[in-house]
Amino acid sequence: MRLLQLAFLVALASGLSAILIYITGVSDLDGPFRLSSEDLEALKSLQIHFQKCVSANGLGLQAVHGRDNCEVSLKFPEDTIPKWKDPKTGELEGLSFDFNLCEAVATWEQVRNSTTILTREFIDALPNGWEEYAWRRINKGVLLNGCENRTLCMEKLSLVLPDRPPYTPRQFGRCAVIGNSGDLLKTKFGKEIDSYDAVVRRMEHLYRNFTEYVGTKSTFRLLNRGSAKALDKVAELYDKGKEVLIVKTTIHDIMNKMIREVPILNPVYLMLGASFGSAAKGTGLKALEFALSMCDTVDMYGFTVDPGYKEWTRYFSESRQGHTPLQGRAYYQMMECLGLIKIHSPMRADPNRVVKWVPSHSLISAARIASEKLLRRVGAGSSDPLAACSIIGKQQLKGKFGLSSGSRKAAVEHHKYVRGATMYPLEHSPGHGLLCTVPLT
Ligand SMILES: *[C@@H]1O[C@H](CO)[C@@H](O)[C@H](O)[C@H]1NC(C)=O
Ligand SMILES: *[C@@H]1O[C@H](CO)[C@@H](O)[C@H](O)[C@H]1NC(C)=O
Ligand SMILES: *[C@@H]1O[C@H](CO)[C@@H](O)[C@H](O)[C@H]1NC(C)=O
Repeated sequence: MRLLQLAFLVALASGLSAILIYITGVSDLDGPFRLSSEDLEALKSLQIHFQKCVSANGLGLQAVHGRDNCEVSLKFPEDTIPKWKDPKTGELEGLSFDFNLCEAVATWEQVRNSTTILTREFIDALPNGWEEYAWRRINKGVLLNGCENRTLCMEKLSLVLPDRPPYTPRQFGRCAVIGNSGDLLKTKFGKEIDSYDAVVRRMEHLYRNFTEYVGTKSTFRLLNRGSAKALDKVAELYDKGKEVLIVKTTIHDIMNKMIREVPILNPVYLMLGASFGSAAKGTGLKALEFALSMCDTVDMYGFTVDPGYKEWTRYFSESRQGHTPLQGRAYYQMMECLGLIKIHSPMRADPNRVVKWVPSHSLISAARIASEKLLRRVGAGSSDPLAACSIIGKQQLKGKFGLSSGSRKAAVEHHKYVRGATMYPLEHSPGHGLLCTVPLT
């Protein structure tokens, strides 16, 4: 009898310990993603600063806490009259938009350390990079049969494919990104815009007649499919041969022909971009993403509408479908209140305007780490700068880790911090890490 009791106890104890091991085992697996009290504190503090920031800078917008520490709704005043109708349903745009602050802070902070230009080293390091990725970036890639003939595939891309990224994080100080909202023609921002270190413009801007308003400087121009087909006309617009053309879509045989035969002297590259989910639509975000991947600060002109706007116009052409002006304004306000950009518009025209209540760098950084854990991102919470790299390629580099001499101090410091690595977003998988190339040692 005694023996039986003993056996029972032993069995019970081992069962218990098995359960304990099981529980601790699971929570160990959970370890890197477990939020500490500091993490929760950071997310709460971010929400508070964010709400104050939106009400101080948002021209009537208010941020309202959602169900958890990440969710937030941006609400326009009840008497706002939406002007934009969904062309499919005929419905007017709503006055309240839900965003996820954690998603935004984790994704956009990563953009700042990434490279958004397609390079050869990226395709080489990506598993099936040529067969699956490269051939999709070539117009009529279908005919190339998954780049079955690699030489031919390479030939099509060669004019726009640098071996290594031509631009690095923090390469430029102050940058301006210029949209084409009709609001731009209300304020003479021209001189101010021309004073930036780099200016990113979009598409087919015909700004010659409006230089007082929109300036003349153009360092980069982002091209969509339509404007990329007329590369020769676009390339004539500014500072022949200097302005860098960034194509967002695919490379075309027509484009290759123009580059060779016209010839287009401007550098032309393809953009490699991250995915921000459905909350962040619109081509303006691509331009901001591009600028954030190279600049210390990014200022935005001509994207957003101020209260009382009458119509959504573009200053040089017909307005198009697909613009959601109120959602856009709300999203840009979120970006401003996450310290990513500064908005300039007719009602916010003072160049010295201070964005009040914008969260400090240390708060953003703490909230970013907490968000990465919450979203279970690769490398969350690690202090290793390369922890978010899920694919690593080795690269033989010339010179001092491949950074050009005379780089800005901030760029050099960042380069040291990442130990000479280059980080690329992996399209459509924000949670699954980055592709990184590291110097061969
Ligand atoms: C591959 O493409 C190149 C360049 O157009 C061509 O010279 C070569 O014959 C092609 N190879 C095959 C196997 O088709
Ligand atoms: C610019 O002004 C000229 C002369 O007034 C005019 O012919 C031209 O159409 C204008 N261009 C645009 C894009 O408005
Ligand atoms: C980006 O790099 C900076 C150093 O330049 C670092 O402080 C920051 O934590 C990095 N951010 C991410 C998301 O890795």
